[in-house]
Amino acid sequence: MKIWVPMDAAARACGADAVAAAIVAEAERRGIAVQILRNGSRGMLWLEPLVEIETPAGRMAFGPMTPADVAGLFEAPETHPKAQGLTEEIAFFKRQTRLTFARCGLIDPLDLDAYEAQGGLAGLRAALACDPEAVVDEIAASGLRGRGGAGFPTGIKWRTVLHAKATPKYIVCNADEGDSGSFADRMLMEGDPFCLIEGMTIAALATGATRGFVYIRSEYPDAIRQMRAAVEIATLAGVIGPSIMGHPQGFDLEIRVGAGAYVCGEETSLLNSLEGKRGVVRAKPPLPALEGFMGRPTVVNNVLSLAAVPWIMAHGAQAYHDIGVGRSRGTIPLQIAGNVRFGGLFETGFGITLGEIVTEIGGGTASGRPVKAVQVGGPLGAYHPVSDFGLPFCYEEFAGQGGLVGHAGLVVHDAGADMLGLARFAMEFCAVESCGKCTPCRIGAVRGVETLDRVAAGDRAALPLLEDLCNTMKLGSLCALGGFTPYPVLSALRHFPEEFTPVQEAAE
Ligand SMILES: Cc1cc2nc3c(=O)[nH]c(=O)nc-3n(C[C@H](O)[C@H](O)[C@H](O)COP(=O)(O)O)c2cc1C
Ligand code: SF4
Repeated sequence: MKIWVPMDAAARACGADAVAAAIVAEAERRGIAVQILRNGSRGMLWLEPLVEIETPAGRMAFGPMTPADVAGLFEAPETHPKAQGLTEEIAFFKRQTRLTFARCGLIDPLDLDAYEAQGGLAGLRAALACDPEAVVDEIAASGLRGRGGAGFPTGIKWRTVLHAKATPKYIVCNADEGDSGSFADRMLMEGDPFCLIEGMTIAALATGATRGFVYIRSEYPDAIRQMRAAVEIATLAGVIGPSIMGHPQGFDLEIRVGAGAYVCGEETSLLNSLEGKRGVVRAKPPLPALEGFMGRPTVVNNVLSLAAVPWIMAHGAQAYHDIGVGRSRGTIPLQIAGNVRFGGLFETGFGITLGEIVTEIGGGTASGRPVKAVQVGGPLGAYHPVSDFGLPFCYEEFAGQGGLVGHAGLVVHDAGADMLGLARFAMEFCAVESCGKCTPCRIGAVRGVETLDRVAAGDRAALPLLEDLCNTMKLGSLCALGGFTPYPVLSALRHFPEEFTPVQEAAE
């Protein structure tokens, strides 16, 4: 009997380890030989811990499991109260286009043979057969844009590093994942770490980089452990190290742990942190692509951008470009969170509407109350009301509506949400997380909190001041932390003005 129990941090937080132990104990008690395999998460977080039993028809899912549910697995699994049918037939799973997350939850994340058997290393082999310019061309033609937030074309960034004269060159993976409601980077690193290593190695071949770093937030101990183990296995197997699978170029990879500041996800601040300095934002230019880590040409890419690369190289740029709409090509791993019935990771082509994501896929709120607002793109993303539900999930369309796709985290709020409180929280978050380098952000965020407190206290004069302050932060901040904090504030004000109406006016 082969049973899969996820070792993903979300599943473990819901008791996966205790469930695994209960399965071992129950099997021993019954004298049944059981092979327990620990996989990544399938991304259906409301079902975690999601246990799967291998059957000739496919893997049967059971969840959310508790140790008390385990005995039933050995009796009549088909009629088990937690039986969900075949995992890949569950509507949430079946509707996805899983390219980047194709293997996540499917295999033992540290089994390199299983990785290869499921299509792993095909992209790297394809890259090894091309010259660097051809690899860059392929990534550019795919239309892949940075999944870390800014949506910058990945091919253009790589081309800049390829043509830079200085050496050595570096590949830095941004795995700081500080956005609220985001967990795709973590899930990928825990569930399919070789995919990220392969993507980084292809980036190294494409640009001539010989050293790489994965910068992971300290709050992700499981991902850190998993990535370290995977790097060791890949090095021993000769995938990376002094030679990339027999190629004259080598690529050494190191895992670095951040100390936990939101701003260290900003690429220049991250580079300072990697160099052992305080995580303060650097002015651009120079671009990190020309003067990045230690002043050398550096690719800084998000986990999801790099993890999309092996699929593109294995299947061709056109196949990736065929998915999506407009200038938003390929798939986007949505992270559906907050007050939602079916929270989890849903990878799909760009173009799906916000309403489809929240209502059809997410199933509406967990509380059963109407949806009031959805914050998209992390703490700097706008609050979208239900009237925005027709908006297609694409970079340009969200920007046109005063929002951003960001890292594609969505946090759903129900009718009970306090929009003034959430706007205040945005300013407070910025005040706490500001690196302090520029005045509009450092001082503006503190003044923003004070101004919103005045609004809450019924001060009529505070509202125009708030809008003025937001414009100053938008236009005058050095980086997007100060520059985008006005988005949640102004969107809350625009869509829910009644909640910002001074109390005496509301009473009139
Ligand atoms: C305050 C702030 C926080 C950020 N946090 C992250 C993060 O956690 N992860 C990430 O990949 N990008 C983050 N970014 C974006 C990075 O600066 C950068 O655009 C990204 O790593 C580039 O990779 P990409 O092109 O693959 O998206 C952040 C930006 C800002 C301004
Ligand atoms: S906007 Fe804020 S975080 Fe960004 S550089 Fe200025 S002070 Fe630092």
